[in-house]
Amino acid sequence: MSERDRIPLAAIKDRDEVRGAYLVRGKTLRMAKNGRAYLSLQLGDKSGGLEGRVWDNAEHWDGACEAGEIALITGRGTSFQGQVQLHVTAIERLPAEAVALEDFMPTSETPLAEMESAVRGLVASVENRWVRRLLESVLDDPELGPRFRVATAAKSVHHAYLGGLMEHSLSMALVCLRLQAHYEKLYPGLLDRDLLIAGALLHDLGKVFEIGTDANFDYTSEGRLLGHIIQGVGVIDEKARAIEGFPPTLLAKVKHMVVAHHGKLEFGSPRPPHLAEALLLHFVDMIDARMNGIRALFKAQAGKEWTGFDRILESMFLSPFEGDEAAGVTSERSRDPDWYAPADGPGPGAGAAPAPTDKDDCAGSGRRASPGTEDEPDDEGPRGPENLSLF
Ligand SMILES: [Fe+2]
Ligand SMILES: [Fe+2]
Repeated sequence: MSERDRIPLAAIKDRDEVRGAYLVRGKTLRMAKNGRAYLSLQLGDKSGGLEGRVWDNAEHWDGACEAGEIALITGRGTSFQGQVQLHVTAIERLPAEAVALEDFMPTSETPLAEMESAVRGLVASVENRWVRRLLESVLDDPELGPRFRVATAAKSVHHAYLGGLMEHSLSMALVCLRLQAHYEKLYPGLLDRDLLIAGALLHDLGKVFEIGTDANFDYTSEGRLLGHIIQGVGVIDEKARAIEGFPPTLLAKVKHMVVAHHGKLEFGSPRPPHLAEALLLHFVDMIDARMNGIRALFKAQAGKEWTGFDRILESMFLSPFEGDEAAGVTSERSRDPDWYAPADGPGPGAGAAPAPTDKDDCAGSGRRASPGTEDEPDDEGPRGPENLSLF
C-alpha cells in the first residue's frame, strides 16, 4: 500500500486494513482489566484523530516511536463501543527528514497566503499612522511575521490548526468592524476602528511564542511561565520602542486591548476592560472562539443528532446537520471563499485598501465614523496554563 493509498484517519471504518504514515500525538502504556499491558496511541493527521491500540507485545512496540513523531502504522479498523479504533499490529519510525509535518497537521481551510493578504489589506486601511506602522512592523518582522502566519490559536479548544491564529485574528477583526459600523450609527464616536483592528490582530500575538508548532502544539516553557498576554505585550513594547515618537498614551491603549482581552483576572487578564473597544474585543474573542469550537464539535461528532457534553462549551448541542452533512460543514462547497473580504472595505489584497490619512490619535480624540465599513471531546481542565487559551 503506497502513501497515496493512505486512508485519512477520519475515514477509517470497521475492518479496514490500514498501512500508512500517521502522526503519533501521544502514547501511553496501560494495563488492561485482564492484567496484560497494552499500548494506547493517539494518532493524528489532517483529517482528525483516532485512538490506536497495540494488544500484542505492547512493551516492545512502546519503544518503536515517540510522541510527536510520524510513524508508519499497520493495523485494522475495529469498532469498540460504537467508536472506530485502530488495532495496531506494527509501528515503524520514519526519519524526520522524510516527512513534512504540515502534511499531517490540521491546517486552516482558507489558504494562508489569502488570509495574510486580507490582514495586510486591513492594516493598510488603518488611518492612525502610529498604529499602522506598529502593525506593519509586526507583520514585516522576519521572525514574527512567518510565525504569525502558521501559528495555531490554541492547543485544542479553538482554531487548533496551522494558520488558526491568523484565521481567528482576521475573523475577529472583521466581526469587530461590522459591530463598530453598526454602533457608529447608534452611538457615534463610541468605538475607534483603528484600535479595534489593532486589538483583534495583536490580542493573541504572544501565542506565536506560547505554543509551539511542533506536532503536538505543546506549550513552550516560556509560554507556561509567562502566558501569551505578557508575551504579546512584550513584543508590542519592543516594536513600539523602535518607532520614534510613538505616543505613550496610544501605546498604553493598544497594550490594554491585549491585556484586557480575557475579560477577568481569573481568566488571565491582569486588568478588566477599561476601554469600550477592549470590552467589545473581549466579547468578540469569546464569540469567535466558541463558534469555531462548536463547529469543530459538530464535525467531530458527525452523524449524531445530539453531541456529547462538552466541558469547554459547558453543554451538549442539537446538531443542525443530518447524517454525513456534518462533514460538509468543513467542505469547500459550504464555505464562502471570500469570507475574509469586508463587505465594502478593503478586499483580500492590500492594494484594494483605501489610502490612509495618517490620523495621529485614536480612542479618545478624533473618534469618527468608519468610512470603509458602513454598513477541546476536549480534555483540557478548567485550570492550568491551558486555561489561558480558552479564547
Ligand atoms: Fe483570542
Ligand atoms: Fe487570548
